[in-house]
Amino acid sequence: KQTANETWYTLTAQAGETQLLPGEKTKTWGYNGSLLGPIVHYERGKTYHLHLVNHLPELTTFHWHGLAIPGPIEDGGCHAPVYPGQSRDVSFKINQPAAFTWLHAHPCPETAAQVWHGLATGAIVTDQHEAKLPLPRNYGVDDIPLILQDRRFHENNQWDYRADYDPDGVAGPTPMINGTINPYFDVTTQKLRLRFLNGANRREWRLHFDDNRIMTQIAGDLSLLPQPIKLTKLMLTCAERAEVIVDFGDCKPGDVVTLYTDQTPLVQFWIHEFKPNHQELPTKLFDVPNPEVTPGLPIHHVTLDGMDEMVAMNGKKFQMDRIDYTMQKGQVQIWDIYNTNGKPGMIHPYHMHGTTFKVISRDGHAPLPTETGLKDTVAINPGEHVRIKVWFDVAGVFMYHCHIIEHEDGGMMAQLKVI
Ligand code: C2O
Ligand code: CU
Ligand code: CU
Repeated sequence: KQTANETWYTLTAQAGETQLLPGEKTKTWGYNGSLLGPIVHYERGKTYHLHLVNHLPELTTFHWHGLAIPGPIEDGGCHAPVYPGQSRDVSFKINQPAAFTWLHAHPCPETAAQVWHGLATGAIVTDQHEAKLPLPRNYGVDDIPLILQDRRFHENNQWDYRADYDPDGVAGPTPMINGTINPYFDVTTQKLRLRFLNGANRREWRLHFDDNRIMTQIAGDLSLLPQPIKLTKLMLTCAERAEVIVDFGDCKPGDVVTLYTDQTPLVQFWIHEFKPNHQELPTKLFDVPNPEVTPGLPIHHVTLDGMDEMVAMNGKKFQMDRIDYTMQKGQVQIWDIYNTNGKPGMIHPYHMHGTTFKVISRDGHAPLPTETGLKDTVAINPGEHVRIKVWFDVAGVFMYHCHIIEHEDGGMMAQLKVI
């Protein structure tokens, strides 16, 4: 069903089998299919009615990571279970800037296992502002999502989450891009817009092309950047997103350009004939909202503590029936997020539900140019503290946590109540 301003959509979490490698199919989970799911398209200003169905043998949730939703039930964290054989209906109006968000299961403490089985997909938000900029947006042709994950294949091509379990995050040697192994892409336009999503449980991606081709980053997690930034290397920690424009104007038909993470090839881009496109990127992309801090509020300190089974936040492990902090709707507060691991320790990707935030500084220095847009996840390096500006437009109980998913499930998570 669909009208001009309303869309109805069904998402079913289900088990299936996917041909990933030659030989036996892999047992996988997905939304409306056997692995991952359709990319969901949201238009700002429209209302969406979602029918969320659970055909799995265990409870799951449907978490809209990065979506500005009206409350915790629509957010789909642990507060919104959908039991096996049951469903849940949620509705919301999209009102946020254009961004690449995502959907994943979030039934704490089974989030990591369910995401590993395949319960994750992307959700693209479009708006009037972005639509007017001269950027590639022909979905599937020059505007491509790339969900970056990794897996280990055991006997008969099966995954075995329990066998691979590591409290610091499960990783595998085989990259899986959009639920495929060793993918290639037919390039039929001079410019491509790549929307990267780190959908891995623990792995960081250090993206670069074999020929050190420039990637012009135009967007981060939750908005366009103020202006485009030219990079040859792009690092993404868990749950982070980046949109880049890649120009193949110097290539000829038959060329192959390969995207890597460290020494591992991820995707081959096969160059075909294309029409020249010399349109310059806009020099200014977006006025990033930056609300004034509410006077008189103290700085809120959050510590990300420990590794392996010892992970905690502010010295405590997550408890669903404990509220760790209270904030008022509409107030804008400075939060300092500390990674108390010494060096060399792990980077913790710090994520907040129900809001977007702005990165103010890293250890007192200006944030990286790549993190000057609106964000929902930010990398905190060992020993470092990152200052962010936090505000909520909706009331309810929301979680914040490390997005190494095993750290989240292991208790490096807390929740706040917005009143
Ligand atoms: Cu990507 Cu608590 O979520
Ligand atoms: Cu989230
Ligand atoms: Cu962590």
